[in-house]
Amino acid sequence: MSQRRKILVTSALPYANGPIHLGHLVEYIQTDIWVRFQKLRGHDCHYVCADDAHGTAIMLKAEQLGITAEEQIANVKADHEKDFAGFHIGFDNYGSTHSEENRQYSEMIYQRLQENGHIASRTITQAYDPEKELFLADRYIKGTCPKCKAEDQYGDNCEVCSATYSPTELINPKSAISGATPIAKDSEHFFFKLPEFSDFLKEWTRSGTLQNEVANKLAEWLDAGLQEWDISRDAPYFGFEIPGQKGKYFYVWLDAPIGYMASFKTLCDREGLDWDEYWKPDSETELYHFIGKDIVNFHALFWPSMLHSAGFRKPSGVNVHGFLTVDGKKMSKSRGTFINAAAYLNHLDPEYLRYYFAAKLTASVDDLDLNLEDFVQRVNTDLVNKVVNIASRTASFVKKAGGEMSANIENAELWQQFLDAENLIAELYEQREYSKAMREIMTLADAANEYIQAQAPWSLAKQEGNEQKVLDICSLGVNMFRALMRFLKPVLPATAEKAELFLDETLNWQEPLAYRAGAINKFKPLMTRIESDKVAAMVEDSKQAAAEAMQAAKPAATGPLADEPIADEINFDDFAKVDLRVALIKQAEHVDGAKKLLKLTLDLGGETRQVFSGIKSAYAPEDLEGKLTVMVANLAPRKMKFGLSEGMVLAAGPGDKEIYLLEPHSGAQPGQRVM
Ligand code: MSP
Ligand code: ZN
Repeated sequence: MSQRRKILVTSALPYANGPIHLGHLVEYIQTDIWVRFQKLRGHDCHYVCADDAHGTAIMLKAEQLGITAEEQIANVKADHEKDFAGFHIGFDNYGSTHSEENRQYSEMIYQRLQENGHIASRTITQAYDPEKELFLADRYIKGTCPKCKAEDQYGDNCEVCSATYSPTELINPKSAISGATPIAKDSEHFFFKLPEFSDFLKEWTRSGTLQNEVANKLAEWLDAGLQEWDISRDAPYFGFEIPGQKGKYFYVWLDAPIGYMASFKTLCDREGLDWDEYWKPDSETELYHFIGKDIVNFHALFWPSMLHSAGFRKPSGVNVHGFLTVDGKKMSKSRGTFINAAAYLNHLDPEYLRYYFAAKLTASVDDLDLNLEDFVQRVNTDLVNKVVNIASRTASFVKKAGGEMSANIENAELWQQFLDAENLIAELYEQREYSKAMREIMTLADAANEYIQAQAPWSLAKQEGNEQKVLDICSLGVNMFRALMRFLKPVLPATAEKAELFLDETLNWQEPLAYRAGAINKFKPLMTRIESDKVAAMVEDSKQAAAEAMQAAKPAATGPLADEPIADEINFDDFAKVDLRVALIKQAEHVDGAKKLLKLTLDLGGETRQVFSGIKSAYAPEDLEGKLTVMVANLAPRKMKFGLSEGMVLAAGPGDKEIYLLEPHSGAQPGQRVM
């Protein structure tokens, strides 16, 4: 085994304003597999992360929920940690950027930048919400697009015609927070003098720390010339006040990466590690940041420059991954493909997703697709039918022969394939080429299955005199399974643990693979097949949760277009397919455990329908009974958490108390078609 390396690994710090979803998990699973691999190889590898707790979005979110920012970040942190644990993400420390350690490092680094002459200050003019008394970032200004005149567009780009512009060009601009018309207002800001680091960055980005495609992108930016980076924000802001500058705060992205250091400090204090050894300029340790492609500038321009100025080491690598799509499209709330970690865990085993992502992940920044049908197929075929099957077809014969595997290698050539593959698979993990590693592993699993199928120990066992042969074949079977589980352990930690109970050994990857004889325990099934209806139920839950959240959200703070662009165009015939009928509300009831739903029993003039509707915040059941409303009568029934919903009633409004059920024309009769 090569020399013991000291490695510090980070994943990007998730924002404390929302739950972990499957997109995030691409990153945490990718990183966790890499870290588990390094640990399994016997290296000193430390994995830290934290919640990214600062910024305007979190402040506004807390306000909207009527809680303090501190309460908001505490709640979200608890949820995040639960979700990560659910997916076996094995952080050695999970901190928060709103911590004393982070304040200290942020102040220290800022002070060093300043002492080195890398901070500038000047007065700038920005949009300001006079009602809310808040400077407005572009995304908090809405108005009419100057190009195509579409209404309700964000401050920097139009979702209808894709034009980009500055918020001052918007027609009739409004604050998305209060609705007030923004005014222009001056204030002093502090800037990090990034252009002074151009030469350093040109070299650093080409020093083998980045994927080629990322380095090329950065070269474009570097050639175009860098701008000074605005690192201050005015009060009110949730963050750290800049020392000596009352009412000025560090911009969230200044202290966020410093959160890596702070979280590691907590770990060092707890475990007696030497923080300086990992961060001093000439450190012999390795430092890797795993991030998504959307935050490359922060990690490969600003961060290394800050570290350089402040006298710390630079990252050994910034590993960039692409974005997750589901069924070939951007994750969508209305399609139910915006799937939160918790919704997934309610229905499915986390290791299915860990394996599926591993089977798709490469070292490139390409996006990756979670195809839900392929997901079911792939996991069932590879893990259940191929890998687990090897043990379930051979273990019982070893047991019957007394429970001791024999030392005779029945097919040395086949076993040699496993020995030969080991270094290659390790190298593929090291290079983050997980999909290639999974392919190698499955090729071995195929060879193992072919062998067992051809040898058919179950037939041999029927004739006397074959005892030794059967034992030899099955001992090889179990050894091949052992090898596969060793190779898969970074991806499937929980399944590997169960396999270890059966094999009666701890699978590590420090010594070269060797054939093993001796005792094993009784085999118990390690993993069950994915049922597609569980996947469907998860998608349904996600749809429903999104619909509930939509109704709960205040419209001003989060416009409906915020993460949901207008759907594909439909023609009139499509629209006419919607069968709207007058419905009489015969009964309205509360639903146990549902915060927003009422259960309605509707009379369609002879036919009765049960519909769940998210109007509880606006209507008491007794006020609804006997009323007429309008429903979509030909909507396919949907299985919801609380029962079957057979249609939808129409309502509109900003939410909360203000939701209005549509009422039909006077004299309308139940069952009558509305258009
Ligand atoms: N708070 C910042 C990171 C600060 S790091 C000093 C942030 N947070 S985030 O919650 O928006 O994203 C966390 C990580 O998840 C980022 O690396 C981001 O690229 C990644 N992903 C978020 N959505 C994703 C997908 N849909 N697909 C893949 N990765 C995604 O950015
Ligand atoms: Zn436009």
